[in-house]
Amino acid sequence: MAKTKLEEEVRRRRTFAIISHPDAGKTTLTEKLLLYGGAIHLAGSVKARRAKRHATSDWMEMEQERGISVTSSVLQFDYEGFRINLLDTPGHQDFSEDTYRTLMAADSAVMLLDNRKGVEEQTRKLFEVCKLRRIPIFTFVNKCDRVGVSPLQLLDDVEAELGMACAPLTWPVTDGTNLLGVYDRLDRQLHLFDRGGDHGASAPSVELTGLDDPRVESLLGGPATERLLEEVELLDAVGADFSEEAFREGAISPTFFGSALTNFGVEPFLRRFLRHAPAPPPRKSSEGEVHPEDPRFTAFVFKIQANMDPKHRDRLAFVRICSGRYQPGEMVTNVRTGKGIRLTDPQQFFGKERERVDTAWPGDVVGIHDRGGLRIGDTLAERGSPTFESIPPFSPEHFARVIVPDPLRRKHLDKGLLELSEEGAVQVFYQDGVTGPAPVVGAVGPLQFDVLLHRLEHEYGVEARLEPMPYRDARWVTGPHADIRRVGNGLDAALVYDRNERPLLLFRNEWVRQSAEGRENSLHFHRVALD
Ligand code: G4P
Repeated sequence: MAKTKLEEEVRRRRTFAIISHPDAGKTTLTEKLLLYGGAIHLAGSVKARRAKRHATSDWMEMEQERGISVTSSVLQFDYEGFRINLLDTPGHQDFSEDTYRTLMAADSAVMLLDNRKGVEEQTRKLFEVCKLRRIPIFTFVNKCDRVGVSPLQLLDDVEAELGMACAPLTWPVTDGTNLLGVYDRLDRQLHLFDRGGDHGASAPSVELTGLDDPRVESLLGGPATERLLEEVELLDAVGADFSEEAFREGAISPTFFGSALTNFGVEPFLRRFLRHAPAPPPRKSSEGEVHPEDPRFTAFVFKIQANMDPKHRDRLAFVRICSGRYQPGEMVTNVRTGKGIRLTDPQQFFGKERERVDTAWPGDVVGIHDRGGLRIGDTLAERGSPTFESIPPFSPEHFARVIVPDPLRRKHLDKGLLELSEEGAVQVFYQDGVTGPAPVVGAVGPLQFDVLLHRLEHEYGVEARLEPMPYRDARWVTGPHADIRRVGNGLDAALVYDRNERPLLLFRNEWVRQSAEGRENSLHFHRVALD
């Protein structure tokens, strides 16, 4: 039976995010992927952003660059009939809860590793969110143009650290010092590395050959050929085999080796990625699964970007489409409030340009102007539709008490904290104190605090000060309340409550948290808040 337009558009969509630690090469890889998509001007815009990024530590400066950071939140490009949405996961100074929330809108992830460093701190945090959602994860080991940890060792480390098996689909070919090529284990083809003269600005021309080709030895040299044959044999014998089912469940990660900078190994990766990455899957909702081919429009809000200019208080809500077809001007309902919203002038992001959207399909992300009615996790759909699972708050890693010198502004402070926490800009907790509950704010990235102070002052007229607390790790905790209070009495932990009165324990560091988890058998610790 012929496919409908909707089915066809769903089938060719791939919506994913790259998870990595700063400097692993995410910007470089993004540029190269965009090159394959034929969007060369976009690669330039990503580069401009990188050049500025290093110099940006101050949030207000970042605001001035917001034009760039907003528009590159979602990059869309086409490759071989696929429509690819690459969701940007902000890192560096702008690593924040938004980075985690973005992963709620992705259908798969690419874990990018530096071949000398393997799994690093931010990679692990982002990996945990992917694991929570059970989305399939690809691994790309980058910077193979220079010597790194031995690939077998690196994969062992990844498995030990993350508990996820890696199935290498490509393998680096070296003479011990130099990269000579990558071997595609499924196609049994060798891609020979040619450093080229343009620093990876164009796709390298590669010579393809099978391992049994007698020319292999003359191309690679005796020792490198021997080494490759040994490693391939070893992988065939002991390496994790790729299984579509284990991959879909996030238990095994198809792994690739290459170099984003020299644009080597990127194309074999992209082709495999497109073949195996899932098209938009059904989403869980209050009434069972909503299938993307369902003609009724459904979507959810995963990120809200406030406009910092007090003259323009409108905000931009990033909306991920889950089913049906979206057309501008359409009337939808915010299922939480029952209020109607006309989706006028929605925008899609394309490098530096914001483009008006004519039609968008499941897997796509559109930005809509919001005057304050939307919250993170809201479902937008036709009236009476089911709601999607909410986006949970993620445990913060920075905490501070909020001090307001003028007691008369306390009401304004409470209002500001409530509204800003509802919007997802920061999380607000209360700590029992002598004079009643005292507000404590929590953030995944410290930049969120700068945003909070700025907005409290400019939008709520509250001049507040933050007193940092020495806690770097936290968990929501369930179990007998007396036991929970006891943990909080320790010197290296504190107990606070979120606005739904769920207790959250703050720990000085990961080590203290782990020892508390090991000791307190009556309690359960959660990285995200459960309803
Ligand atoms: P990020 O977005 O993950 O933070 O990383 P980014 O792409 O900015 O790359 C970080 C550094 O790593 C850059 O060097 C970049 O050129 C380098 N890099 C990326 N991919 C590769 C690769 O495949 N091989 C090698 N050898 N290096 C790679 P930089 O000196 O910090 O910046 P730049 O002066 O090159 O722009």
